[in-house]
Amino acid sequence: MQPDFIPLCGRVAASPRVKPYRNIHKALRLAMTSTLDALARVDADDAVAVSSVLSQVEQLLEFCDGHLRHENAFMHEALRERDPDAPRDFDAEHASQQRVALSLHHALQRARLHDADTEAVLYQLYLVLSVHIADHLRHMADEETTLTEAFWAMFSDREILDVEARLVASLTPAERDVSSQWMLRALNHRERVELLEAMREGMPAAAFDALLQHLRVLLTPPTWRRLESAFLTTTKA
Ligand SMILES: [Fe+2]
Repeated sequence: MQPDFIPLCGRVAASPRVKPYRNIHKALRLAMTSTLDALARVDADDAVAVSSVLSQVEQLLEFCDGHLRHENAFMHEALRERDPDAPRDFDAEHASQQRVALSLHHALQRARLHDADTEAVLYQLYLVLSVHIADHLRHMADEETTLTEAFWAMFSDREILDVEARLVASLTPAERDVSSQWMLRALNHRERVELLEAMREGMPAAAFDALLQHLRVLLTPPTWRRLESAFLTTTKA
């Protein structure tokens, strides 16, 4: 870690400006650590659990790959229009992450074949995934600080929100479901309420109620109770 990284994190954290990477990166971190944790604990002789955790790894790889492609197409593209050099190092890291993800897909296929010692294959996958995640964690923190400051230097908050809105509009319904579910679990209460308020504006009331009911299952009971009372208060106000 560079010595100036801690003050850089402090500047970004304390700024009142729009933070375009925060929510989605919190979501990705939770998806990564939950999946790694599930892979660590799965029993090789439990075929149902093994199949479930392998699907979870596959969904994580798809989530990461989609995120990276959307960043390239919208965030990096927007930065490049104002400063061609701004996203260069991050473009290269994305290309490297895509190559590692391909190797992980091969390891995943091998684990699915059950033609070898399943416990050893799962452990191999766990080790490779742990390094892939470590690389992502470092990369995301760099992006979330360096590129956030690049956005702040060249874009107004309104313009950043417009770039973000174009990215969100490009998501498939399945991609939107995956990212919003991880986000709503990963955020703190204030951030979760802010996101839900924004989502409520773009969806029918019945769909929003269904989403809230789904969150009742997804969130821990204390988190759900706090959220429920926040929305009851909002409705009454
Ligand atoms: Fe990235």
